Amino acid sequence: MSDALPTFWTTTERAVQDGALVKLTLSKPRRKDPATPRNLYARPVEIRDERLLQVTHRYADREEAKNYDYDSGLAYLREQLVTVYYNGDLFTTDAKLSVMQSRKGNARLRGDAVTHAPPVLAHNRDKHRDVAADRPYLHALGITTAEGRVTAAGRRKYKQINKFVEIIDGLVQQHPLPAGAHVVDMGSGSGYLTFALYDHLVNTLGLDVRVTGVELRPALVEQCREIAAENNFTGLHFVEGYIDSYQPERLDMLIALHACDTATDDALFQGLQAQAEIMIVAPCCQKQVRRDMEVPADLRPLLDHGILLERQAAMLTDGLRALYLEEQGYATKVFEFIPLEHTAKNVMITAVKQPGATGGGAQVQREALKERFGVRRHYLEELLEGRC
Ligand SMILES: C[S@@+](CC[C@H](N)C(=O)[O-])C[C@H]1O[C@@H](n2cnc3c(N)ncnc32)[C@H](O)[C@@H]1O
Repeated sequence: MSDALPTFWTTTERAVQDGALVKLTLSKPRRKDPATPRNLYARPVEIRDERLLQVTHRYADREEAKNYDYDSGLAYLREQLVTVYYNGDLFTTDAKLSVMQSRKGNARLRGDAVTHAPPVLAHNRDKHRDVAADRPYLHALGITTAEGRVTAAGRRKYKQINKFVEIIDGLVQQHPLPAGAHVVDMGSGSGYLTFALYDHLVNTLGLDVRVTGVELRPALVEQCREIAAENNFTGLHFVEGYIDSYQPERLDMLIALHACDTATDDALFQGLQAQAEIMIVAPCCQKQVRRDMEVPADLRPLLDHGILLERQAAMLTDGLRALYLEEQGYATKVFEFIPLEHTAKNVMITAVKQPGATGGGAQVQREALKERFGVRRHYLEELLEGRC
């Protein structure tokens, strides 16, 4: 009999003892049966100062997690690998070891020397949402020192990252992403939110997702690719190009933060076309509606003031965006992303797909709003109607 399985488990136990276990997955079920999880995903967590093994059971339509002490967790996985699954993959901080069993009961091992980021242990909800300042990518992005302390210059970005991760975390808890989901960050810029997004979804929550940043500036794309490779973020990719010409094969969650003017509409249009489950945008400068509105006479005393017109146009741009999304069957929220003292671009719109939703009276409401404020055109509407 091959010693592949015993070697796999002794290596796992050693990784646990050394604190080097990142995750362990069991996959390829022996029987195709909806009652059997498609895979099991185990990772170390810390709950009330106790280290446990959390095993997530991933079914086609849901996930269920259970916490075990290490001995019982490993015993459970060991039994599952013999009775339910053919394959096991162990990820440690410096290697990957896979065991593959055949139908006939033969088992073989394959080892690869690859480095993985150390596991994020916090499980408690409050701690869980805080991005640990010692994550190495934060240093590469210039937000923290080599010792993992937030620099004075990085404080604002670090705060934004934490707030962003908190929002993302809430959304994916309420509305779980499908297995193998593709998350796209359009207009990813220098990537600090993209890296935090990936690290949280993959390394903290242990989700099976890929993340792509789309950015038109080649130097930023190149820099982000290097940092992703250094951190071994193998499911994080950066694509150079314009949002409107990007063609993903699937798009489950769309992010577009501070993408200029109508680039936000291009991103929302991509999300709508792909029927993304979740969309999150924080619009940037809004020029289009302001240019294309004719202020009604009774509103002139208010909107003849440039600053008030600018704010009104921004409000209309975003309010109408939310209504277009509702018309397409999404539940939306518009709220302050982070306080104004940190950035002037502080409105965030989130949209979550509601199966069977018809959009209620959103179309009537947006037409009434456009008429009241003299809005002649909205770029997102033109995209939706195929007029540009
Ligand atoms: C203000 S930055 C924001 C970066 C990042 N999302 C953030 O919030 O930190 C906007 C980025 O979007 C990129 N961008 C703007 N319009 C774009 C378009 N149409 N296609 C791709 N990238 C675009 C810009 O080059 C810039 O890097």
